[in-house]
Amino acid sequence: MFNQIDYRGKIIKVIHKAEEIQKRSEQIRCQGKSIVLVPTMGFFHEGHLSLMRKGRELGDDLVISIFVNPAQFGPHEDFESYPRDLERDLQLAREIGVDAVFTPDNMELYPEGFQTYIELEKLPNHLCGLSRPVFFKGIATVVAKLFNIVKPHVAIFGEKDYQQLTVIRRMVQDLNFNINIIGGPTVREPDGLAMSSRNNYLTLKQRPTALTLYKALVKAKDLLKNGVKDAGEIIQVATKLITAHPETGIDYISICDPECLDTIKTIDKPALMALAVNVGKTRLIDNMILYP
Ligand code: PAJ
Repeated sequence: MFNQIDYRGKIIKVIHKAEEIQKRSEQIRCQGKSIVLVPTMGFFHEGHLSLMRKGRELGDDLVISIFVNPAQFGPHEDFESYPRDLERDLQLAREIGVDAVFTPDNMELYPEGFQTYIELEKLPNHLCGLSRPVFFKGIATVVAKLFNIVKPHVAIFGEKDYQQLTVIRRMVQDLNFNINIIGGPTVREPDGLAMSSRNNYLTLKQRPTALTLYKALVKAKDLLKNGVKDAGEIIQVATKLITAHPETGIDYISICDPECLDTIKTIDKPALMALAVNVGKTRLIDNMILYP
């Protein structure tokens, strides 16, 4: 397949083998250059691209990974149908000036006999972790592997997946990874819908329903501005707003501490409002920090 692609003078290296990119990273480190990693599952949208642009500014060598990680999908989730388009992704990455793309196959990262996973004790017992029991175990494991393979100085993750960012920051601290973790703001469609590869699953009819996640967050912000500090009351209004639309199934709406993710009753310091809603069969998430 692709190996080294030249596009308008920009060369991008496409690497499938962990050992190859490990060696490449060691050479780059020996030259005193810094490496930035943006891990992804591909099917790029502006959210992914914004992280790559940030990465381009933050270091000498920009590496991205494209790998739909089977370990973070439950048995009845969308691993098989998760959208993929490697050729388009490579073109977009090239245009941004990505230096190398690590795109392993499943056997490269999880060969026969694989049995070592990373599990956090507390953070996954909140929000998405409750309905997706293997999710954060799969994420922590693959991200730790990517860190050991790519050896970055800096790694960038989106605030759209707030709990993921929290889990990774914790893991980096707990396991002494010498990596600077940077968060990138959520990129939204012009009307406010958070960009996601899964938005692709939405039908035209479901699109206004999908927007209610963002509308609920904005409503919460307004309520707080008008003096409503009771988290329960805000969640009730948000629930009504969302369930007024067809095909919605709320997984959770939570107002919690932005660091430990424990539920908050009264908003008297910055709080994270996070929600997950099924729109038809599509699971969408969004979040916002509420400032009293
Ligand atoms: P994926 O969903 O492809 O997302 C890759 C990165 O893009 C993540 O850091 C995610 O938070 C960020 N991102 C997604 N939508 C965004 C948006 N609208 N605005 C800003 N950033 C956005 O997240 C994963 O992949 C995987 O769990 C991964 C970390 C690669 C581990 O498998």
